[in-house]
Amino acid sequence: MKSLNSFKTKYGHFSPDGKEYIITTPRTPRPWINVISNGDYGITVSQTGSGYSWRTHAQLNRLTRWEQDLIRDEWGKYIYLRDEKGNVWSAGWKPVCSEPDSYECRHGIGYTTIRSTYFGIETELLIFVPIDKPLELWSLTIRNRTRRTRTLDVFTYFEWGLGQAPDWHREFHKSFIETEYNADAHGLFATKRLWEMTTERGHWNTNWPYVAFHSSSVRPSSYDGDKETFLGMYGTHRNPVSVEKGKLKKRTGNWLDPIGSLHIRMSLPPGAERTSCFTLGAADTKSQACDLIRKYRDKKEVNAALEGVHYHWENILGTLEVDTPDDAMNIMENTWLKYQAISGRMWGRTAYYQTGGAYGFRDQLQDSQLWLPIDAEQTKQQILLHARHQFSDGTVYHWWHPISEIGLHREISDTLLWLPFVVVSYLQETDDFSALRIHEPFVDDRSGASLYDHCVRAIDKALQRFSERGLPLIGAGDWNDGLSAVGLEMKGESVWLAHFLHRVLIDFAEVAERSEDLERAGLYRERAARLKDTINAVAWDGEWYYRATKDSGEKLGSKANKEGRIYLNAQTWAVIAGVAERGRAEEVMDVVERQLESKAGPLLLYPAYKTPDSSIGYLTRYSPGVRENAGVYTHAATWAVIAEAMLGRGKEAFRIYSKLNPINRGKNPDEYSAEPYVTPGNIEGPESPFYGRGGWTWYTGSAAWLFRVGLEWILGIRATTDGLIIDPCIPSAWKGYKVKRRFRGAFYNVHVKNPEHLQCGVKELWVDGVQHCMTKGPRNKVVAPFEAGSTHEVVAVLGA
Ligand code: GLC
Repeated sequence: MKSLNSFKTKYGHFSPDGKEYIITTPRTPRPWINVISNGDYGITVSQTGSGYSWRTHAQLNRLTRWEQDLIRDEWGKYIYLRDEKGNVWSAGWKPVCSEPDSYECRHGIGYTTIRSTYFGIETELLIFVPIDKPLELWSLTIRNRTRRTRTLDVFTYFEWGLGQAPDWHREFHKSFIETEYNADAHGLFATKRLWEMTTERGHWNTNWPYVAFHSSSVRPSSYDGDKETFLGMYGTHRNPVSVEKGKLKKRTGNWLDPIGSLHIRMSLPPGAERTSCFTLGAADTKSQACDLIRKYRDKKEVNAALEGVHYHWENILGTLEVDTPDDAMNIMENTWLKYQAISGRMWGRTAYYQTGGAYGFRDQLQDSQLWLPIDAEQTKQQILLHARHQFSDGTVYHWWHPISEIGLHREISDTLLWLPFVVVSYLQETDDFSALRIHEPFVDDRSGASLYDHCVRAIDKALQRFSERGLPLIGAGDWNDGLSAVGLEMKGESVWLAHFLHRVLIDFAEVAERSEDLERAGLYRERAARLKDTINAVAWDGEWYYRATKDSGEKLGSKANKEGRIYLNAQTWAVIAGVAERGRAEEVMDVVERQLESKAGPLLLYPAYKTPDSSIGYLTRYSPGVRENAGVYTHAATWAVIAEAMLGRGKEAFRIYSKLNPINRGKNPDEYSAEPYVTPGNIEGPESPFYGRGGWTWYTGSAAWLFRVGLEWILGIRATTDGLIIDPCIPSAWKGYKVKRRFRGAFYNVHVKNPEHLQCGVKELWVDGVQHCMTKGPRNKVVAPFEAGSTHEVVAVLGA
């Protein structure tokens, strides 16, 4: 494999294969974290060594205590060291914050390693989560780099959370926690007699149903379960009294301020190294906890678990690979966007900026599109999960909590339509129409219906919520949650939703036709045609489409407005949905480039709202330039890439993609602040004094979309029911690129050549050395599906 640009800055760089980000100082402009999850158990870990752990739900079922404080980043699971002279430091930088002689944090795919040197002692702390067990492993290697024998005391430390245990209610929650030391287990158990769950016997009346544990591979010299004895009354994390003394007080039981701390002592001759392993997890039973503890006492098991993580991720990531002239694109498409979307968004559903834990109906459905070219079964399972969170009238939970199954059921008008939208993508990828017959219950009707019926109910519900003029109502918000009060009286309309619905109607009409539901196919096509006419007749503002009307009839995103004059989604989706005809489509994207495109990508709207407007919603309450209030909202900004590519504007499509690529934003790390290896939810716009600053990293729907637009619209490799379309839309400077992709079980090595330096338009398509005839125009060259298991060489040549 060729070595990629490392994009080095004063804070760090990528490894040569792009699969690790190596942070070279603990003082990054914001915490730069990793979100590691196996789909059930998970952890966050920052470059300072801080973070938290959870099982199944990062809020309802958090194991360790953590408070959202991105400036201090001072909640975590820590390791202290103390030497024979009484020097005290930590394996990560927090919480002691001594000046390290060397420091390196490597965030990798499924693991993080922090290597540091203090007082001649090098520690290497490797943290990861085995792929199928509810625990994390901390493998700690200590090396004596000095010429004398050293005696070291090592202490672990964290606070137990155990369930939903908010910080502001600690005194209440702590009294239900019980800790216990078990000598055979080399560690501590913790349980809790209360969980914030509603049961048949009322609220606050059930046990937290797990057994938490923390153990060491080596027999501990001492331990503690109490914060008071560990830190000392009025003590600090920087300087705990027990660490100073070199010994723990062995206090466990109820009645405490519960923590977990284990102490091991070692003597290291010059040059020697020692590896110990700690576990932290939440088992279903005590005996399961003991089994896990015993298993990972064995170094071989720890290594095998790490190998398992590598193998697991290689399988996922290696299924689809791109090799383009742009290393920033290669690194993101091949590794980090997939990892972020899967580990962070779909499995972890949590990160520093939003601890989350719930499923957003539209959010994880959109994310699950990332699985399509990798393992479409995962998309299908996500679709079915969401179908089960629909009501029989077609409406859906806007979001819901796994475990408690409590959700928000409100008139947010677009959410339900993402079900048919993603189902269409799934069918294009797989042609698996049998999935439509799968039967799933509704929230309020367990007898349920077929997936096809679930989709139809969603669409039919959306078709009922129309204004007299023939536009869909916006209700309590559409894709943009912050437009939360525009249409509460069910009068205001959404132009973006009109575009989106148009797309869904046209695409689903095809599905209906294939399903021999011809009447419905006809109806949807007819409604789509009418909708398109209406949008173009009433929602055109002169130079662009306005965005919505309020209950009062007043427009949003129109020339008539001083603030929020133009909105991005109403333009990009006019193109994506096929509502704007060619000339108008060009016109609206020109306006987007002129009025919305910033150095960090297109803004969601412009200018920002400066005064809160209760007839619009909380969007107007954000600081100007921040998030949806005239920031770059990355998720929506990726759609501009699709619109540009549909118009054949390769230069513009790639320019916008590159502006959104966090690697490029991170070239100016002090301005950008955020991690350069994952997408941010937003980048502040020109009306913020922090123009260019990224925030809300990891937990954002932009990762899956940026991946998708890069692969499908720039590299132009898209699934359709007929086969795989090869439709590059690239900067003319590119000579070509390669993509390895699986499609319906067959493997395709696609090589695109661009000898005439064009932006799009395939002249010749060769499959396995034979010129291919399935041609429907230069932007519609399709490779027919092949038998599963076979491999094919595809060459596409751009030409006029
Ligand atoms: C948040 C929501 C998402 C919504 C977006 C835009 O990310 O989770 O559903 O589409 O904001 O408002």
